[in-house]
Amino acid sequence: DSEFSLRPQNLKEYIGQKKVKEKLEIFIQAAKLRDEALDHVLLYGPPGLGKTTLANIIAREMGGDLKITSGPAIERAGDLAAILTNLKDNDVLFIDEIHRLSRAVEEILYPAMEDYALDIVIGKGAAAKSIRIDLPKFTLIGATTRLGLLTSPLRDRFGVMCSMEFYEIDELREIVVRSADILNVDIIESAAEMIGRRSRGTPRIANRLLKRVRDYCSVKGDGIITEEIVQNAAELLEIDLEGFDKIDNKILKAIINNFNGGPVGVETLAYFIGEESSTVEDVYEPYLLQKGFILRTPRGRVAGDRAYEHFNIKRGKRLIQES
Ligand code: ADE
Repeated sequence: DSEFSLRPQNLKEYIGQKKVKEKLEIFIQAAKLRDEALDHVLLYGPPGLGKTTLANIIAREMGGDLKITSGPAIERAGDLAAILTNLKDNDVLFIDEIHRLSRAVEEILYPAMEDYALDIVIGKGAAAKSIRIDLPKFTLIGATTRLGLLTSPLRDRFGVMCSMEFYEIDELREIVVRSADILNVDIIESAAEMIGRRSRGTPRIANRLLKRVRDYCSVKGDGIITEEIVQNAAELLEIDLEGFDKIDNKILKAIINNFNGGPVGVETLAYFIGEESSTVEDVYEPYLLQKGFILRTPRGRVAGDRAYEHFNIKRGKRLIQES
């Protein structure tokens, strides 16, 4: 799909995540010098920041193939055993949502990561015995939105830990300009920046918005994406100046209007707006927390100063509900 074609194919093309890139450049080069597999890598942080893209790049740079799966998709220990035995030296196994692996599956992973070995138990009870199969020298890349949900034995087996951060506006502008070039559309630099500003620090959102702006431009514009085009397209998509969509605004409005500015437990808040609490916690909250729209307290979430500024009201006041 076209999202794939927008993905950078090597670290040089990858914009932002300076620290992550620095680490990976060195550890990849060192592994190649020693002619060994790269040590296992854990990428953690909010969705849409480029974890899968990095896995692709790492596989390419190490000269291996990439196999993509996810924690919930690996149901039984045998499923993982089948995946592991089909890998080759230098292949990369990417497990998304790795915090959602079952205990039994996770235990297969420990010797696989540590010794490139698969321990298989044959038989039951007193007659049971364990045999060990050698695995190829592969690299596991685990991705998670929440580091805290990883068990410590699993976390401890990753040699490289990388925290993925939200992108700066400049970086997002650069990504939008690059993507527009690949999509073969003309865009004014300041319009690319406007898209960047409305993307919640997230390239996936920036690229999606760019595609919708392009659609708008091809119907209503005259071949070049201008600030006015971005403005009109964002209004059509109900994306505000912060890049917040209806759900972000629902979360903020609910805390202010229905829970007196908080504190409110995240479960209660999610139930109130009709979303899964894991969606609120993993997808919506990280950005709102980082930018100070929401604050975390022991008794729940409270609306931050920026939330009141966003709606242009004073703390303690409520919003007038439209419709
Ligand atoms: N497209 C999506 N994420 C990107 C990134 N970090 N660098 C360049 N292009 C991208």
